[in-house]
This record gives sequence, structure tokens and C-alpha cells, in this order.
Amino acid sequence: MAHSVSAHLHVKIADYDGFIRTVIPGYDTMRAVQLDLLGRSLPPDGRVLDLGGGTGALAAAVAERFPTVHIEIWDTDPAMLTVARERCAVFGTRVSLVARSFVEPLPACDAVVACIALHHVKDLTMKGGIYKNILAALRPGGLFANADTAMSTVPFVRDAAFQAWGNFMGTQGIADEPARQYFAEWAKEDYYPPLATELRLLAAAGFAEPECFWRHAPFTVFGGVR
Ligand SMILES: C[S@@+](CC[C@H](N)C(=O)[O-])C[C@H]1O[C@@H](n2cnc3c(N)ncnc32)[C@H](O)[C@@H]1O
Repeated sequence: MAHSVSAHLHVKIADYDGFIRTVIPGYDTMRAVQLDLLGRSLPPDGRVLDLGGGTGALAAAVAERFPTVHIEIWDTDPAMLTVARERCAVFGTRVSLVARSFVEPLPACDAVVACIALHHVKDLTMKGGIYKNILAALRPGGLFANADTAMSTVPFVRDAAFQAWGNFMGTQGIADEPARQYFAEWAKEDYYPPLATELRLLAAAGFAEPECFWRHAPFTVFGGVR
């Protein structure tokens, strides 16, 4: 499953970190939620997988906050991994990069995180398989915390969420029409299942207590503990 972020988002990879904050409300808030959860669950020598880790921003934040843990970034876009490699070089062998799809079986770990990456999986059977792989990789007590978009299928709830999203983009200088164009463009590759669907998939994968850790619709941090 090859993926080019530059083609998908129409952005130069060097501009990605700035761009993403203009189109994703709560990008930094979701990261803070994930870091807080990791702080409550990770052992000092923990091992964290960052699925679709992109330019390495989340991995770097984890490495900075928890100076003795190891983080593995999985991503399929070589251009994103190049930026991640440069950014994370400062952490030496504590951050490693794996050019592999997150649909593959995952190595044993203490936590799995992802940020606006798993919405690239449109097939729910495949997504359920990823959740099963995540559960299988986690040690007992290990955390899965996914920061992503979860969109209701109820029309007026969905409209409200898209409107709130568009309003945020307006505050970043992106007018209504370009915002609508972004949504239409991203929909070609992305799928934002309702939160209830995500929680059901997690339960079906074997998570005993799927959880929504934080939500400002449509942006959500959800997952579970093994
Ligand atoms: C929107 S970016 C998010 C990057 C980063 N997690 C962040 O928060 O900024 C989505 C990332 O998922 C990666 N990706 C998409 N499909 C993937 C797959 N099947 N396996 C691994 N990574 C994938 C893309 O290459 C991209 O880097």
C-alpha cells in the first residue's frame, strides 16, 4: 500500500508540519492527550510503535518526553521518512524507522500510537485486521491511542462537524470554497468512520474496553488497553 503525502495533500514535505496545523484543529491537543496517556502507562524502558508516523513529529515528542523509551516509526512514504530520519537523528538508536505498511503484523511493544494516519484505510475488514495486529503486539496493560477523524453518518451531526472543521480552517486563512475542495480531495483517499464503528471494530478485535479518550468532533483520540 504505497502512499505519497505530497500528492495527497498537495503540499511540499518540508511544509508539512506547518500545513497540517492549519487544516487539523486539535492537532497539538490530540498529541498532548496521547503523551499524557503514555505517561500513565509506559514502563521506563518501554517500546512504542508510531503507525504512519510521517515526518516523525509524534515520535520526536514521545522521545523528548520519555528519555529512556524506544520508538519505532512505521510509514510507507519515503519522502516523509526522510524528514523523520533527519528530525529524529538527535535521539540516536532510540528512534528507528521502518518502511513498511501498518497492515503488516507488528512487533511486540508497550504502546501503539497513530495520528491522522489510519483513516487511509478505507476497508473496514482491513482496519479490523490492523486492530487485531495491534492487540496481538501489545503486552498486557499496553495502550493503543489513535488520534484521528471520526465522522457521524447522521446528516446534521456530520454537517455540524464539517462546519466546525471548515470554520477552524477559516481562522487559518482557508476560505469556505478551498476548504470544501480539500474535503472532496481527501475523501478520494481517506475514510472517517463514525466513532461507534471504530469502537465496535476495536471490540471485535478483542479490546475488552474500547475507549474514547478525548473528542472535539470530528477529531478524536480513541483506542484501548490490552
Ligand atoms: C496525514 S499523514 C500523518 C503523519 C503524522 N502521523 C502526523 O501526525 O503528522 C499520514 C501518514 O500515514 C502514512 N501512511 C499511509 N498509509 C500507510 C500505510 N499503509 N502504512 C504505513 N504508513 C502509511 C503516510 O505516508 C503519512 O506519512
